[in-house]
Amino acid sequence: MKKTDYIGFFDSGLGGLSVLKHALQVFPEENYIFFADCGHFPYGEKTPEQVREYSIASCDRMYEKGIKALVIACNTATSAAIHEMREKYQIPVISMEPAVKPAMEADPTGKIIVMATPGTIASGRYKRLIDRLGCNDRLINIPCKGLADLVEKGDFESEEIYGYIKDIFVPHASERVTGIVLGCTHYSFVRNAVEKTAANVFKDMPEIYDGMYGTVRQLGNLLRKDDMLSESGKSEVIVMTSGTEEDRKLIEYILKK
Ligand code: DGL
Repeated sequence: MKKTDYIGFFDSGLGGLSVLKHALQVFPEENYIFFADCGHFPYGEKTPEQVREYSIASCDRMYEKGIKALVIACNTATSAAIHEMREKYQIPVISMEPAVKPAMEADPTGKIIVMATPGTIASGRYKRLIDRLGCNDRLINIPCKGLADLVEKGDFESEEIYGYIKDIFVPHASERVTGIVLGCTHYSFVRNAVEKTAANVFKDMPEIYDGMYGTVRQLGNLLRKDDMLSESGKSEVIVMTSGTEEDRKLIEYILKK
């Protein structure tokens, strides 16, 4: 394995690009492959068995190319398949999980809204995370059915997105919400809409938490530990998708934007 080998990034759709774009800023000398399983999107409303099957089939296609690390840039796929992936792939596999811990630690009593797919919220992995943190009574878990679909349309400032976010926040307007966790990589692209809507709905502006920063940090830690960070001075991104040519074009457009 060489330092210039590719790092695989995986998501069900374009959401994982938010993580990849951050990785490109932090590690601009790496080569990347991004695989979007648009042919089976959305994962958030499928069974864990289906998500496991589709995500492993997708990651197999990158693994066969000889990637040096794999980032599961999808909270839903992490919760359904990370265990199997770590057993199967003989490379560092970096996961994604809702950033509940920093949100909980930042304020000892405030409520925390967790926005994630129905699959992530219902998963055993997420339940174990909140049991471990002992913060169940402080969480407002919102399974955002359909939100990733709106993001996947590619217009992150659409009226539909603002309307959706307003509708989920308004019922909690009277609570002291101190944190909002973006627990799906698609939602990182609508952070602006989340912030603007939260500023209008809540009395005090909650802090926004996004797990992608920890994931990219962990990627760097693991590559550094194995002396596998690239110093080639250049970077390439290959896009792969199980979807249509239109899906690919949108992914490439968002990547460059
Ligand atoms: N981007 C994915 C996540 O982080 C899920 C989107 C979906 O396929 O429903 O959970």
